[in-house]
Amino acid sequence: MKALLEALQPGEKDWDLAQAIDPARLPAHIAIIMDGNGRWAGRRFLPRVAGHKAGIGPVRTAVETCARLGVKVLTLYAFSVENWKRPRAEVETLWRLLRYYLKQELPELQKNDIRLQAIGRLDALPAQVRRELDAAVDATSANRGLLVNLAINYGGRAEIVDAVNSILEMARLDGSIQTLKIDEDLIATCLYTASCPDPDLLIRTSGEMRISNFLLWQIAYSELYVTDTLWPDFTRTDLLQALLEYQKRDRRYGGLSGAGVDTEAKSAEESLLASLRPS
Ligand code: FPP
Repeated sequence: MKALLEALQPGEKDWDLAQAIDPARLPAHIAIIMDGNGRWAGRRFLPRVAGHKAGIGPVRTAVETCARLGVKVLTLYAFSVENWKRPRAEVETLWRLLRYYLKQELPELQKNDIRLQAIGRLDALPAQVRRELDAAVDATSANRGLLVNLAINYGGRAEIVDAVNSILEMARLDGSIQTLKIDEDLIATCLYTASCPDPDLLIRTSGEMRISNFLLWQIAYSELYVTDTLWPDFTRTDLLQALLEYQKRDRRYGGLSGAGVDTEAKSAEESLLASLRPS
């Protein structure tokens, strides 16, 4: 948070927004469904891939802003298991852009102590993409600042299936298959995101009210924020606005909140019982 304020001048754009954010209530983990690249391009009579290219700038901004804020984890949905259904040329452009991003951003990631991790079924990636991705992940593995999870060939259902299969495989190997009991903690520790807290805030751009198979297990209690802004137009201002909205939310995790809840519940229960007593 301090680093973000230091990067801004009083009166500069986003200064007031940044001042309004409570550093004590920042989300530890932000996840983003980066949607609307195609529509952004279409509105400009450009090919869809131009929208993906324009989506790289906001990726940089989101990473930089989260790092400066002191957010611990940022997960970006870059390519879903369903995205293979797109025309081959579009898919190939997405791989080219990913390679370009990794090459361009690696020095910046290193400078800012940012660690990169890739989550998804990575074995299906083209060999060259996989090599360059692994190299970037390795190169940043000792960094201890923001962790950026790039979700690539990712599906929430696939992730749960992979977790369950890895549990079965471990149990077969250590001979515990007959007595195996699966619980939530065991599944959570076998997800691709095992080392991360669940997302506190899930942002989706482009106004679509869908989860699109993203982090299905992990978003059980995430706060959702949907903005009409298309991903290529998503700025630091949009991110800070999402954070301010998040800080207004009352997170109850299925329970109750607020002081006096116990006393209130007790007196409601007493009057209910009184009303049931025969007069
Ligand atoms: C969804 O928009 C976006 C994607 C499937 C790809 C996201 C890729 C980027 C933001 C490019 C750069 C990313 C990295 C990590 C280097 P869409 O094409 O579904 O948009 P539409 O719904 O308007 O058609």
